[in-house]
Amino acid sequence: MSKAKYTITSALPYANGPLHLGHVAGVYLPSDIFVRFLRMNNHDVAFICGSDEHGAAITLRAKKEGTTPQEIVDKYDGIIRKAFDDFGISFDIFHRTSSEIHHKTAQDFFNVLDEKKQFTKETREQYYDEDFNQFLADRYITGTCPNCQHDAAYGDQCEKCGSTLSPTELINPSSTLSGKAPILKPTSHWYLPLERHEDWLRSWVKEGQLNGKEHHNPKNWRNQVVGQCMSWIDGGLKPRAMTRDLDWGVKVPVEGADGKVLYVWLDAPIGYISATKQWALENNKNWKDYWTGDRKLVHFIGKDNIVFHTIIFPILLKAHEGLILPDNVPAYEFLNLEGDKFSTSRNWAVWLHEYLEAHPNKVDELKYVLTSIAPETKDSEFTWKEFQTRINNELAAILGNFVNRAMVLTQKYYNGAVPVMGELTEFDNDIISQMEAIPGKISKLMYSYKLREAQAEAMNLARLGNKYLADTEPWKMVKDPANAARVATIMNIALQITANLSIVLKPFLPATAKILSDHLNFHVSDWEKAGSADLLTEGHPTTKTPILFEKIDDEFVENEKAKLEATKTIENSFPPQKEETSFDDFTKMDIRVGTILTAEKVKKANKLLKLSVDTGIDQRTIVSGIAQHYSPEEVIGKKVTVLMNLAPRKIRGVESQGMILMAENAEGELSFVSPEKEFEAGGEVK
Ligand code: MF3
Ligand code: ZN
Repeated sequence: MSKAKYTITSALPYANGPLHLGHVAGVYLPSDIFVRFLRMNNHDVAFICGSDEHGAAITLRAKKEGTTPQEIVDKYDGIIRKAFDDFGISFDIFHRTSSEIHHKTAQDFFNVLDEKKQFTKETREQYYDEDFNQFLADRYITGTCPNCQHDAAYGDQCEKCGSTLSPTELINPSSTLSGKAPILKPTSHWYLPLERHEDWLRSWVKEGQLNGKEHHNPKNWRNQVVGQCMSWIDGGLKPRAMTRDLDWGVKVPVEGADGKVLYVWLDAPIGYISATKQWALENNKNWKDYWTGDRKLVHFIGKDNIVFHTIIFPILLKAHEGLILPDNVPAYEFLNLEGDKFSTSRNWAVWLHEYLEAHPNKVDELKYVLTSIAPETKDSEFTWKEFQTRINNELAAILGNFVNRAMVLTQKYYNGAVPVMGELTEFDNDIISQMEAIPGKISKLMYSYKLREAQAEAMNLARLGNKYLADTEPWKMVKDPANAARVATIMNIALQITANLSIVLKPFLPATAKILSDHLNFHVSDWEKAGSADLLTEGHPTTKTPILFEKIDDEFVENEKAKLEATKTIENSFPPQKEETSFDDFTKMDIRVGTILTAEKVKKANKLLKLSVDTGIDQRTIVSGIAQHYSPEEVIGKKVTVLMNLAPRKIRGVESQGMILMAENAEGELSFVSPEKEFEAGGEVK
């Protein structure tokens, strides 16, 4: 039987920030391990990723950092790319959706679907921010999630519960630009009628589902993946807009569509294809070989990406015709950090690039810990304490200890040369047969996307080695020359186990496996060879390995925890900074200290007080919306700040000649802004 061919993708990270350990544990590391394993098993594999550089995630970040979207994507693409490199993620290509080949590929894709009448064009009311003259799609709008009541869900998805939303589903929507409630305004867009695809989607998703009585899952789709798909389908598929009114993104390739770009969730997954094209170009290959025919397409993603990869993108692929659909979509749950969610806005995160800068020699340690706690079936948690425990009690105490003993004793007794395997005892045979079984167990787990268990199984080989040496105690036997042949056999077996470790650890701990290979003078990457008890022949030279894993002390843990606490920021719900203003514009405003002389409630207006104010140059009437925060009696005699030259306005029939400046806290409470010293009315504020 010929080996299955694979095209493996990892979710394209948004180039709007660096990667944290949650991203690594739940997408990039598992896909890398899986691909390394496939390559060792001689599968034809393409491993594709790149930066996702469009959408509101990018433009909002640019606004926040006071720069352009292009600068944002250049900056973060660079940081992400370098971190992947330093961490040793083995993509065949890490591309960019801002590239020309991507824009062209996405536009061609759109045109194919448009010609096949796969879109409908509809004019609908959408949220619009009047202050900023902009439609509010996706992340430009926030509100309360209808599913979990999280109060900062985005218009396209809720990051708390992972559900996919559309803006009109949000409760109490508000614009992320002005902070105000949006209005509705009509606009036309291309829609993908998802409901047309319900029938085939249903049966296709079911192929991945548990199969009736047999409880046999033919494609090994994870339960939560099938579950989310089915609840979407059962909830009723609806047309979804595939274009947006934005100026950053892939232009809609149709005349008269000025100011419109492709929806980022249309363009980004096509990024997998355009990246494959670029890679094929650079390597004299045909990209179509990787997207057609008998080949397994596998998307590694986080759970918030499920419907895009199991419903929307498959519909696009199917509608395009001639391209393969995913064979599996291993989606990961979320990783938490020290008892709380990872959060970019609160800077509660361990950033991959910062970890690598601080601990460049602890790459495999991090890989090991992250795979051990990978959120494969449910949310899991990273703590520095567990990082320490896993490294000290498992990597150092089990793997490091076994390898060190085997290699050191070989130096000591045989000057590094592999001794002769003599007659085997029943115990030896038992150990050997357990060793022989391990690679097969790992394979089975790997092909079922159970990487966490697969790594544990690889560690079991080191456990087996430890047990073997502890039970046979060659360091005691060697004292009696009569045992020479027995000691040689024991050490031979210990070295065969070490050689096997250098193979089976390779997908998980490539750097460690390389150290083992180098010191064993044994460079085999063929998984088929693993399990054998005669990998090393008699007399084969080895050299002593360095200590593989240093123990992590308590100070390390305390340091890292202190770093987290020291850099976290407090989350608030204050509106973002307004657009820049000039000094000249600012000085046009006449602001002064005033004293409130009288105050009374305005009839039938429960928020308003009518005040008379001594401004130092005159006495005037000002209507102020503070009645819910101050009583009339309370404000008399107060020193306040007054915007003097605001054009007079009639409020509830009273002419207001200026405005009292107020500070507002996160709860919406108002307070006067008063001079801190006893200043008289009339003093300028500037
Ligand atoms: N950028 C998205 C995220 O970080 C993932 C995009 S995956 C792709 O959630 F398929 F669209 F590329
Ligand atoms: Zn939610």
